[in-house]
This record gives sequence, structure tokens and C-alpha cells, in this order.
Amino acid sequence: MNILLTGGMGYIGSHTAALLASAGHRVHIYDNLCNSNIGTLDRIQKIASQVIGFTEGDVRDTEKLTKVLRDEKIDAVIHLSGLKAVGESSQKPIEYYANNVQGSISLIQAMQAVGINTLVFSSSATVYGDPVYLPYDEDHPTNPTNPYGRNKLQVEEILRDLSASDSSWRIGCLRYFNPVGAHETGLIGEDPNGIPNNLMPVIGQVVNGKLPLLNIFGDDYETHDGTGKRDYIHVMDLAEGHLATLIWLQSNLGCHTFNLGTGSSYSVLDLLNRFEEASGQKIPRQVVERRPGDLPEYYAKADKAEKVLGWKTKKTLSDICNSSWLWIKNSKKS
Ligand code: NAD
Ligand code: UFG
Repeated sequence: MNILLTGGMGYIGSHTAALLASAGHRVHIYDNLCNSNIGTLDRIQKIASQVIGFTEGDVRDTEKLTKVLRDEKIDAVIHLSGLKAVGESSQKPIEYYANNVQGSISLIQAMQAVGINTLVFSSSATVYGDPVYLPYDEDHPTNPTNPYGRNKLQVEEILRDLSASDSSWRIGCLRYFNPVGAHETGLIGEDPNGIPNNLMPVIGQVVNGKLPLLNIFGDDYETHDGTGKRDYIHVMDLAEGHLATLIWLQSNLGCHTFNLGTGSSYSVLDLLNRFEEASGQKIPRQVVERRPGDLPEYYAKADKAEKVLGWKTKKTLSDICNSSWLWIKNSKKS
């Protein structure tokens, strides 16, 4: 397949591009590099041992995107581009709606112009909001509590309307849980511009001396050790989930939603202890106030993806920590 990845230079996109290209697909990345670095392209190519196409562009530039889709004879699109900082989305909601919702409409229009109808969309577990029950299954009520989450839900709704209006579409909305880890080569990993918000990149910056210590946001939750629990999914398992979805969509029409998670959760301290074991490094930390908006715990019911797509996670928390450590070590050197 000829596959275009919007946002393919970012954390999840770069791992997915490497996996798809290694599996024999032709990959073209379309990214404006607002949260990524051109140097990643070489490293993806090194892993895949082949050339990966790249166009620098904004997903909202419908004309440019249309031309790339046509020129590269694209069969399917994985739409990963977007802004993703939950806190920032409350401070700059219009920027988020413009980039994430308007950007998705622009992509759909470009695909319509060229007649491409296979699309995989990066959604998020954040669409569920406060748990009515756990684990979240795909039928759990959706009630996102911030503009970022509402962006994701709105795009899903747009895609469902699109599919209802035109039965030729093949769409997968993938609700990611907490992506962590890095490629086993240590060549690519999570490398956000600016100060990170998420747990693993913060740990990385503590190890690399860019941050003095890790703030643990609360140790008084009703969990086994009081810290928040999440469903951490290895980014390469997540990449496999995209490939499984693309293959399945080749013989299935309509708009379909899948949780991509492991089905279990680990606490901040579980992850931290395992990381210290993997790295042999002591991570300085302090417990601070709960972060506003954080939930005590959530995790996926991941049965649908297994039953329908034949996909399930294979990697362990140790695989996550070992690969993250390799990546952090490598990025410290460069
Ligand atoms: P990332 O920031 O590393 O990658 C996103 C990429 O999109 C970046 O390379 C950025 O330069 C690009 N981009 C942003 N706006 C663009 C635009 N207007 N035009 C072209 N390119 C643009 O993020 P990620 O962690 O790889 O996330 C990928 C997708 O998965 C995002 O849509 C995100 O919302 C979603 N997601 C991420 C997580 C997570 O925790 N990482 C969880 C759930 C969902
Ligand atoms: N945490 C800390 N200290 C930090 C950062 C995080 O203690 O410096 C804790 C949080 O309180 C939480 C856990 O680590 O208990 C995970 O926090 P993250 O910020 O890594 O992840 P979230 O679960 O808050 O959110 C992430 C993404 C969202 C996405 C969601 C579900 O940031 O975009 O997972 O996929 F929607």
C-alpha cells in the first residue's frame, strides 16, 4: 500500500512509519514540523532500510495536501497530525480547534478531491471523560473534560457523519491509551519540543539533567500505592495496531472505533520503579499536589481490537522501560 502519514514525523507517527515501511509498504510523511524535527527522517529510513517520502506542509493547506495525495498515488491515510497538550488546549482553545478539527476537515476534503477513502484517525481515551465504569469499552459514554478531548470527539463525529453520508469510506478511529516506550534500536523515541507534560518524557529530562526532579502529582488516590494508574501501551504495539486496522479496512466498509490499550494499569510508582531497574539510575522525585483534571485510574477493555482486528499488545512494562532508557541514553549523547 502507498500510505500517507500526517504528523508522521512525531512520536507515534515516526514509529508507525518505521513499522509500515519495514513491513513493505511505501510511506510518505506530511508534517509541518511544529512539534518534531527533520532529523527523525534519516533515523526512520535507517530502521526501515528504505527511502521514506517527506513533504513539509500544514494539514490545513488543502491544495498542497491534495497534490501530494495525487502525486504519491496514496491508497490510505493515517491522520496523526495535531496539537496534543491537554493543559494548553484550555489556554488556546481556538488554536486547538483550528489545528485539530479544521485540519481534519481539510484532510477529508483533500482525500475526497482525489478519491481516497481509507482513513485511520488518532483518537484518544480522553474522549471518555470521568469513568462511569472501568475498564472503558468502546460503548462507554463520551464526555471529554477539556478542549483537546472535545477536538478528538468532534473529529470522530465528523467521520461518523461522513461515513453515514457516503458508504464507500473505510475509517478506523483508534482511541489510544497512554503511549510510551521507544523503538528497540533506540534510534527514535519521544522527543517533544519544549517542556513535556507526560510522565515518561519528564523522566527522560530528569535523567538528562534538564529537570532537577520528577513531581509526582498526588499520592493520596485510592490505588494500591496512592499514585495515579494508567494503561501504558508500548508505542510499537500501537504501531502494529495501525497496520492491523489498515489491513482489516481493506475488506470492511464504514466507520469503526477501537480502543488500543493493554487492558491493565500501572501506577506512577510502578513505572518509576521499573524504570530505575531498567536504567540503574535513581530518579529524584517529590510528591506534590494532584494535577487538576487528573483521574485516579483508567484502562482499556481491549477485547474488540483483539476479536475484530486480531491485534493485541505483546510488550511488557519492562520492554517499555528498557526501550525508553535506550532512547534517553542515546538522546543524552547527541
Ligand atoms: P507529536 O506531537 O509527537 O506528533 C504530532 C505531529 O503532528 C508533529 O510532528 C507535528 O509537527 C505535526 N503537526 C501538528 N500540527 C500540524 C499541522 N497543522 N500540519 C501538519 N503537521 C502538524 O504527537 P504524538 O504523540 O505522536 O501524537 C500523534 C497523534 O496521536 C496526535 O493526534 C495526538 O493527539 C494523538 N494521541 C496522542 C497521545 C499521546 O499520549 N502521545 C494519546 C492519544 C492520542
Ligand atoms: N504524572 C506525574 N508527574 C508528571 C507527569 C505525569 O505524576 O510530571 C502522572 C499523572 O498524574 C498521571 C500519570 O503520571 O497519573 C500519567 O500522566 P501523563 O501526563 O503521562 O498522561 P495522562 O494520562 O494525563 O494523559 C495522556 C495524554 C493525553 C491522552 C491520555 C489518554 O497526555 O493526551 O493520556 O490517552 F489523552
